[in-house]
This record gives sequence, structure tokens and C-alpha cells, in this order.
Amino acid sequence: MITTTQIEMALGHVNDPDLGRSLTELGMIENIKVDGKKVSFDLVLTTPACPMKKRMSDDCVAAIHELVDREAEVEINLTSRPQPDPKEELREAFKQVHNTIVVASGKGGVGKSFVTSMLAVLAERKGRRVAILDADITGPSIPKAFNLACGAYQDERGILPPCSNMGIKVMSLNLLVKDPAEPVVWRGPVIAGAVKQFWTDVCWEDVDVMFVDMPPGTGDVPLTVFQSLPVDGVVVVASPQELVGLIVEKSIKMAEMMKKKVLGLVENMSYFQCPDCGTRHDVFGKSHIDEIAARHGIGPVCRLPIDPGFAAAMDAGAVETVDCPDLQPVVDVI
Ligand SMILES: Nc1ncnc2c1ncn2[C@@H]1O[C@H](COP(=O)(O)OP(=O)(O)O)[C@@H](O)[C@H]1O
Ligand SMILES: [Mg+2]
Repeated sequence: MITTTQIEMALGHVNDPDLGRSLTELGMIENIKVDGKKVSFDLVLTTPACPMKKRMSDDCVAAIHELVDREAEVEINLTSRPQPDPKEELREAFKQVHNTIVVASGKGGVGKSFVTSMLAVLAERKGRRVAILDADITGPSIPKAFNLACGAYQDERGILPPCSNMGIKVMSLNLLVKDPAEPVVWRGPVIAGAVKQFWTDVCWEDVDVMFVDMPPGTGDVPLTVFQSLPVDGVVVVASPQELVGLIVEKSIKMAEMMKKKVLGLVENMSYFQCPDCGTRHDVFGKSHIDEIAARHGIGPVCRLPIDPGFAAAMDAGAVETVDCPDLQPVVDVI
């Protein structure tokens, strides 16, 4: 007997030839009905004139015959949504980035850029193709951490992001300003627009995972990132002091309101381990990270030590040489 689940799973193997993602993932399959050997469903196109409709229909029939039942009679109703999805253009531009992870914090100076850099380095070491989009213009931390001083190049495909030694692609507003020490005096909506342009105009090519270093807080730019990028998950970074107050919960709640999954919670500068005797000192008192993670049902939590070596490597443009095994549990769920 044929089931709707079998049909859905078979159609999960059919990709939109332009977007390279499955029709089910793109929400293009609706109303699957099965009656004996008769199978019908709607294929929802963005426009009735879609040049790929014949190919997609043929691929659907082939997938059902191959994976479910050779004798199934397949009827496909081609429909289209009256309004084109306004996010389609951005999705299209981002089709080559498979997984987008936002790194957020309630306030600045908690080590968000350090954690973003480290997540990227650890993911790259796992063999993933990695990119960083630095959306925080308050300081040129990311280009500096990877020793990238040059601006971006442009050819007919778009802006080409500079690459780190290990091959991490980096795009940052800070790479486009002439003097990184000069403040960028742009208002929120202008910055938000520039960040959006990094999606549409930067030629990312094949990237398995992109980390977005988000400005701290819950203002214009974070909101734009959540609303207009295909964000797959969020990692929240906090200092021990923030975990006592409510600041970090604002970041978590923003992700929840935007219906994005918080993949991990990182308490940075959590403790100090004496290099001479090995004793661990909880400089800021007892950690509250586990309570908060439990309250919001967040998976892996990490506590990173205060390590002068981290700061020195960030300053020297050598973050790719740093070892930070404590962060591995978060990288493993990305
Ligand atoms: N765990 C740590 N131990 C020591 N120094 C750190 C640690 N995490 C970050 N730093 C340093 O603290 C400063 C602020 O970190 P940064 O990542 O720029 O914060 P944010 O992006 O949240 O503003 C930087 O100089 C950075 O190198
Ligand atoms: Mg930063």
C-alpha cells in the first residue's frame, strides 16, 4: 500500500534545479493524496511560467516510480502562489550557503567575535567549507583575528570575499572601510542594508556553514538578519555576569520569537585555571549557565576559560592556531 509519507519522502529527493534544494524543503509540495495506486499532489511554483515545471514534474514522477511504486499513477496539479515570496531573491542568492548560524550576545565585549572565529576554525578543522559574515561594525575584530587586511575584490560575479590561511571566507564591513581605526558613522538601517547586500552581492560559492557575527543586543541589524536571512540556528555567547541578569535571556527570547533554534549557549571568560598549580578559580562565583539552558531547553552548553593566550592570538591575527576543545560540543551540533 502506498502512503503519503512514502510520497513525501520520495519527493524529498527531487531538487529545484535552480535552487539546488528539495521541493519539500522549499514548501513546493502540497495536498498529497493517495488512493490505491493513484497519487496526486500540488506542485506550487513561484510563477505559472516557470521554465523548470516540466523537468520538475518529470523528476517527481521518476522519483515516485523509483522509490515507491513502479505502477503508481501520478497526477500533478501545477499551481502557483499569487504573490511571489519576497525572500525568494535572498534565498536564491544564498543557495550556495547551506547552513547559516548566527552568533549573538546581549552586549559587547563578551567574546562574541572570539567565539565566532573559533567556531569557524573548529568547523574548518572538521573538513567543512566555512565562511564568516561579520555584521558587527563596532570593531574590526574578525578581519584582524584572521590577519586579513586587504579589501574585497570584485569581478563580474560579484564581490569576492578574502580568504584566511586555512581557507575561511570572510566578509566584513570593516574590510570595505579605508581606515579600520575610523568609526563607521552609519545609522542602523544603513548598516542593516549593507549586511543584506553581503547576501546578494557577495559571491560565496560553495559554503557548508556560514557564521554571522551579529552586533550585540536586539536592535535594527539583528532584527534584519533574523528577518531576511535564512538563519538555521543561533549560538548565544554570554559573560558570567550577564548570566546572572536578564540580558542574555533577551537574546535567547529574540531567537525564540523569530522561531530560530538556539543550538548552544557559551559562557565565555567563565573561570581561570592557574597555569602553575592547575587550580580552577570561579572568578565570578557560581555559574548560572546550566539553569538558563534548562529553562529554555537549550542543548550543549560550554564554559570557556579566561586564557590570555586567546586574546594574544586574536590580537596577533593567529586565531587559526588556537586550540579550544571546550567549544567542540557546540560545533558538533552544527
Ligand atoms: N576567553 C577569553 N580569554 C581571554 N580573552 C578573551 C576571551 N574571549 C575574548 N577575549 C578577548 O576579549 C576581548 C573582547 O572579545 P571580543 O571577541 O572582541 O568580544 P565581542 O565581540 O563580544 O565584543 C578581545 O580582546 C578578545 O581577544
Ligand atoms: Mg566583536
